[in-house]
Amino acid sequence: ATNKFTYDPGFMSTAACNSTITYIDGDKGELLYRGYPIEQLAVNCDFLETCYLLLNGELPNAQQKKTFVDTVTNHTMVHEQMQFFFRGFRRDAHPMSVLVGTVGALSSFYHDSLDINDPHHREVSAIRLIAKLPTLVAMSYKYSIGQPFIYPRNDLSYSANFMRMMFSTPCAEYEVNDVLVRALDRILILHADHEQNASTSTVRLAGSSGANPFACIAAGIACLWGPAHGGANEAALNMLEDIQKQGGVERIGEFIAKVKDKNSNVKLMGFGHRVYKNYDPRAKLMRETCHEVLTELGLHDDPLFKLAMALEKIALEDDYFVQRKLYPNVDFYSGIVQRALGIPVSLFTGIFAMARTVGWIAQWNEMISDPEQKIGRPRQLYVGAAKRDVPSMDKRK
Ligand code: SDX
Repeated sequence: ATNKFTYDPGFMSTAACNSTITYIDGDKGELLYRGYPIEQLAVNCDFLETCYLLLNGELPNAQQKKTFVDTVTNHTMVHEQMQFFFRGFRRDAHPMSVLVGTVGALSSFYHDSLDINDPHHREVSAIRLIAKLPTLVAMSYKYSIGQPFIYPRNDLSYSANFMRMMFSTPCAEYEVNDVLVRALDRILILHADHEQNASTSTVRLAGSSGANPFACIAAGIACLWGPAHGGANEAALNMLEDIQKQGGVERIGEFIAKVKDKNSNVKLMGFGHRVYKNYDPRAKLMRETCHEVLTELGLHDDPLFKLAMALEKIALEDDYFVQRKLYPNVDFYSGIVQRALGIPVSLFTGIFAMARTVGWIAQWNEMISDPEQKIGRPRQLYVGAAKRDVPSMDKRK
């Protein structure tokens, strides 16, 4: 017999916390970081300015920006022993498995000297994580292709440093292309924070026990990996490539029919959202960035971009999607941009993690610095067996 509860889905969607960092209006398709619209930040700021804003609540002035950038830049190297962690992974290990492992391993270099109740220690941890994620993501890529690790340089911007660590070799320097570097910077801004999404809630819950921030961010990376969350950009690009292989635009109708067939379990990856029931504002900016990058590279006829726009147009006119308020989300175009930047599909979610680290750590810091905060302890609605006695073996069915 089970308890006579009637499950109320709304029960589990009660507000998780108060926060001053990011505001989303899902019906209007509005996203604000510390009150600033994402559309203005994406055009007027760079990623490290956005990091400063998310961490401190205000945009930096020129001096504050210079100090912050210099501090982050001077923490981009990882401990020399970090390289040995990579050797334990298979060369074809998914970069997210490598990131979960290596970011978690950062704890072993800083944990003992870290008091999370000390605001300065929290600030240094934030800087270290923001600074070292690009280095670890690039190292995971170099390891997967059998090339030597490339050290960061202090004379390059955050995103240019990452592109160089990814694509330079000891034999040939990567030639920084400002349009591509700007595109990466915008991708990072658009992914930086998104209030209480699954991975941020994971970081908050892990952090509420007093676990060190490096371990908490590793937990967030593990959650982000899922295809329903950060893994959707990789899944969306693979979906577009599959449709392209099967005939491209002419086969969209067949694909949409499959999505509508409940038994197929096929989803339109990069569409739909737990909160946005309107167009994800980040998707619009990502589509513009896509067009800019492809034009810069002379790829404006890129078949995947054309396929994505055709798929979006058809889906937005189709009752199945309109009735369910399914619109493109941040992941729908980001894969095409990243592919044009030369980033391998398997690393797309790693780039998302690189960007989201500042949001995770800002949210973690907001929680830890709240004197009222207690360990998280979500409750449940028990709908299992009613209380009963244990039968002897001979009486069991
Ligand atoms: C991110 O939370 C965040 O903020 C996340 C994120 C962030 O920045 O942190 O924004 C990043 O994770 C974006 C989402 C990336 N995921 C994908 O693109 C994967 C594909 N999308 C789906 O898996 C889905 O849309 C979810 C998981 C994102 C949301 O799923 P829900 O909550 O079930 O969506 P819903 O309740 O609005 O669904 C309503 C209906 C359902 O069908 P019915 O049962 O009503 O018949 O729409 C269907 C869903 O099955 N549906 C889809 C669909 N998404 C929802 N059908 C086809 N394709 C889809 N993509």
